[in-house]
This record gives sequence, structure tokens and C-alpha cells, in this order.
Amino acid sequence: MSPPNPPVPTRTLPYGEAAIADATATIAAGGVVAVPTETVYGLAADATDSRAVAGIYAAKGRPSFNPLIVHVLDRAAAEAIAIFNADAGALADAFWPGPLTLVLPLRADAAIASLVTAGLDTIAIRVPAHRAMRALLAATGKPLAAPSANASGAISPTRAAHVLTSLGGRIPLILDDGPTEAGLESTIVATTGGVHILRPGPITSDAIAALFPGSPSSAIAKQPGNAAITAPGQLESHYAPTKPLRLNATIAADDEWLIGFGTSAGDDTLSATGDLTEAAANLFAALHRADASPQPRIAIFPIPANGLGTAINDRLRRAAHQD
Ligand code: TXA
Ligand code: MG
Repeated sequence: MSPPNPPVPTRTLPYGEAAIADATATIAAGGVVAVPTETVYGLAADATDSRAVAGIYAAKGRPSFNPLIVHVLDRAAAEAIAIFNADAGALADAFWPGPLTLVLPLRADAAIASLVTAGLDTIAIRVPAHRAMRALLAATGKPLAAPSANASGAISPTRAAHVLTSLGGRIPLILDDGPTEAGLESTIVATTGGVHILRPGPITSDAIAALFPGSPSSAIAKQPGNAAITAPGQLESHYAPTKPLRLNATIAADDEWLIGFGTSAGDDTLSATGDLTEAAANLFAALHRADASPQPRIAIFPIPANGLGTAINDRLRRAAHQD
């Protein structure tokens, strides 16, 4: 889909009462608003209004078969939309509000636009913790569909400035509440036929496995190549910078921008102290800086595969499969 023509002026407003009132009016009129969550900035619209949801796809230029995550204020609102089994209930109790998305059977009577689920009979749903997204949910009184607020195939935004670079001229309003905390998209978990991670994220497989004695973390972790439990629309291009990316690099070529980690210094670093939480929060900003650097190619040091490193390496592998 092509962006709206002619371009719309994009305003950035700092989080506060005036900004929430403005954003609420935009959403009520069927528009889209970029809003921070604890993971990345989302591009929100009323999930019950299919035209509004189409506006998300149009602004992002996203393939329409890629279903969206719906955000709600609390568990009760989620239960009005999706069917919870015991495992889903345990996960919601443990991690909501927070960076966990559950893929659950959609209620037949849920008032969700089918464009949101791309026609699936399941829905991806989460209760976010961020004050700006929560204020917008409360003020609109609507479930809000919100994918990451970047053009399709570009890097997820962790700052208002990233949204402006990617979607400026395509959306009317960005709510700015500073850099996001987690810096990685939510962990996506399906609970049909056992608990499975569809997308690694800030909540690790170990943290999830701790809730289910008897299910080892290895059984819950994302299994690469298992098509049956892979989230549809997880295009390899989803997390890609515009330049080729070389993984597990220990030395940079002359034409490479090197992203370091720990004591291995480069042109930039994900975390000078080797802290994986800091690395996750920095990941997309570092890729944006690499994209903006004079070098035509990007290289990155090896990132350990434990804890949050699993999600970081998942994102990096997707980014690297592009050239
Ligand atoms: O942290 C996040 O999750 C951010 C913030 C804004 O909430 N959102 C986000 O949305 O990352 P998006 O649209 O960029 O990624 C949604 C992912 C896609 O990979 C999509 O295929 C998957 O969720 N998904 C959505 N509905 C699904 C479903 N019914 N079954 C399986 N996967 C689904
Ligand atoms: Mg995205």
C-alpha cells in the first residue's frame, strides 16, 4: 500500500493531558496516533473500526496479511475479546501489565475488525504498562490495535524521533514520552496445545517456564523452523536496517560500521559493560545510527545467547537476512 497523498503534517506533542486529549480526538475520528509503550512506539488505532485499522496498514505500507496486536487496559477487557485457558490465565496474572502478548482464540462476539487479525480465528492481545498507552486506552475506551510505529520493513522505533524519520508525513500525531524502556517488542506466546513462544522478547523463556513446573524452558522457547507455531507475518524483512549486516564479527572491514558489545569496542556499542538489558534497550537505536553512518555496511560483535540475548540474536538474524 502506498502512503497517503498528499502528505499530512506530523505533529509531535510531549506526553500530558493536552496531548492525550488531542490523541483521543484523532482516534475517535478514525485516525492513527504514534504512542510509546514499554517495548517500542506503537501506531495505534481503534481496533473496532476497520477503516481506522486500514489507516495503520496504509501509513506503514504493511502487507495486509500481517495481523496486529490489540492493546487493552486490563484482563477483563481482554476476556471480552479472547478466550483464556488456564495457562493463558497464569501468564496474564504473572506478566500483565507488561511486555507479554498472548495469542488466543478470538471470541465469536468480539467487536474486533477482521483486518486486525488478518482473518485468523486467533488474536494477539496484551495489557501494556506504559503510562502514555494506558492513558490513551482509558481516554478512548477502545481496544487499540498497534503494531510498531515504523514503515514496513524498517527498524522498530524506540524514540519519537525514530517514528518521525520513518512515518513523518504519513501520520498526524506522535505522542513523545522519551525513549522506551525495554527497546524490544513484546514476547509473543501461544497457549493452544501447550505454551510456546512465537517471538522472543523482554520476558524470557526461563521466566515463563518458571510458571509451569514440568515444562522445561527448552520446550517453551521458540523452535526455529517449526512452521506450525511460527507467527504468520513474521517477515524476515521486519527488523531490517537498510544496509547489509554481518553478525559475530570480531574485526571490521574498512567499509563497515562496527557495533561493539562489552569490552570489544567498535564505532558504537550496545553495552560497554556487557549488560544484555542495556543492549536490548539500545539495539534499535544502534541500528538506526549504523544506518545513518557513512559506512555502507554494518558489522556487529557476537552477543551471548543467554537471557535477553536470545531475543537480541533473533532480531539480528532477521536483520542480517536482508541485503
Ligand atoms: O511490543 C510490541 O509487541 C509492539 C508494541 C507496539 O505493542 N507491537 C508490535 O506489533 O511489535 P507488530 O505488529 O510489529 O508485531 C506483531 C506480531 C507480528 O509478528 C504478527 O505476525 C504477530 O504479532 N501476530 C499478530 N496476531 C497474531 C496471531 N493471531 N497469531 C500469531 N501471530 C500474530
Ligand atoms: Mg513491527
